[in-house]
Amino acid sequence: MTPELNLAAPEFRADPYPTYARLRKTSPIITLHRPFVGRAWLLTRYEDVVNALLDPRLASSRHNAVGGRNPTDRWWMPRLFRTFQTNMVASDPPDHRRLRDLVHKAFTPRRVEELKGTMERLVSRLLDEAAEKRSIDLLSEFAAPLALTVISAMMGVPEEDRPRFRRWTSRLLDSKLETPLDFIRRFPSASRMLGFFRELIRLHREHPGEDLLTGLVQAEEQGDRLGEDELISMIFLLLLAGHDTLVNLIGNGMLALLQNPDQLQKLREHPELIGSAVEELLRYTSPIEMPTPRFAREDIELHGQHIPRGAMVVPILASANRDEAVFENADRLDITRHPNRHVAFGLGAHYCMGAPLARLEGKIALLALVSRFPETRLAVPREQLRWRGSLGPRGLTSLPLHLS
Ligand code: HEM
Repeated sequence: MTPELNLAAPEFRADPYPTYARLRKTSPIITLHRPFVGRAWLLTRYEDVVNALLDPRLASSRHNAVGGRNPTDRWWMPRLFRTFQTNMVASDPPDHRRLRDLVHKAFTPRRVEELKGTMERLVSRLLDEAAEKRSIDLLSEFAAPLALTVISAMMGVPEEDRPRFRRWTSRLLDSKLETPLDFIRRFPSASRMLGFFRELIRLHREHPGEDLLTGLVQAEEQGDRLGEDELISMIFLLLLAGHDTLVNLIGNGMLALLQNPDQLQKLREHPELIGSAVEELLRYTSPIEMPTPRFAREDIELHGQHIPRGAMVVPILASANRDEAVFENADRLDITRHPNRHVAFGLGAHYCMGAPLARLEGKIALLALVSRFPETRLAVPREQLRWRGSLGPRGLTSLPLHLS
């Protein structure tokens, strides 16, 4: 018998970990029927998650796995949403390599290291502004402006457009996106976002610069390297993945530190631990709870269960990251944990392209926060914190703090 699991329930969003722990013991693979998306096979153990991410029998696009339509490609879905989904995360070789090769050079550790000074100055300025206010929402007044400024500068998005983009993103991600009604509700934000991307493309076509967007627009003009939908989808993916995940790392990470004052104290006394602290916060808080689904190219047997060809398989990263079989005292935050083989950035061909950027930005932001405001505390009771309803990314709607 598979236990019932409502992924969208607010109490589950608030703390999925006890449920995942139970599932790892009793039902390492469960099936769920998700309305409009269909049946999904969820994997909760570290070993199964790792194997799935590396398994060539699983494709990232259902179309590539078994032909036909992708489950999110329904007749009722506005074309606009399909445009957003023609991206590298949902693609397989050879398209995946072609798309990844177009941009990966901008995200290598060496290129990212060149941005360090800019990030430090930006963090310092944002914290100066925050210090004047004393109480802030860490997400909208620090993490989001920081993350958006960095990725927008790399891409070439004008400064005045960034807050609008953040607003649309929040509207798209604050709750789950599965039923026709969910899509209808999000249509206005998505449609404005599409208009905004078209405008950005026009701007970069007319005024080429040194940025990533210019490179992509030029690749699209050459025709064979990037189609128009792919260009739009790439801009969407990079802007979204490049900032929203970091907001979640900074928000979830800061909350975890506040809830574990001994670890916070240790980090203040030993700032040199920031590297392993960020790895541990990635493991402990999993800013991406579940990656994009995979699809079985053939029948697969696992733990006595039959996963039929074409089935949707979801390896749960957040559950793998708390698996006691791999991490001792997995539910304990330990900023000195070593080794720490978390899968917060995924694994295999789709391993997070922005990992070097996320690590560097996360380190600079969190270290500056804890060093500069040693007495920071939550400005609301913990029970009032709300988690977004989106499945995939895991983050708070806001994190009100008193800085001191
Ligand atoms: C804490 C921050 C971040 C986390 C936890 C994270 C997590 C992930 C995960 C789990 C995947 C794999 C998805 C899959 O297998 O389906 C992924 C892919 C990706 N990430 Fe990140 N990410 C972060 C930050 C970033 C940043 C800053 C960027 C910059 C643009 C970025 C760009 C990407 C891209 C382009 C992919 C797709 C790679 C591919 O399909 O080959 N990510 N990320």
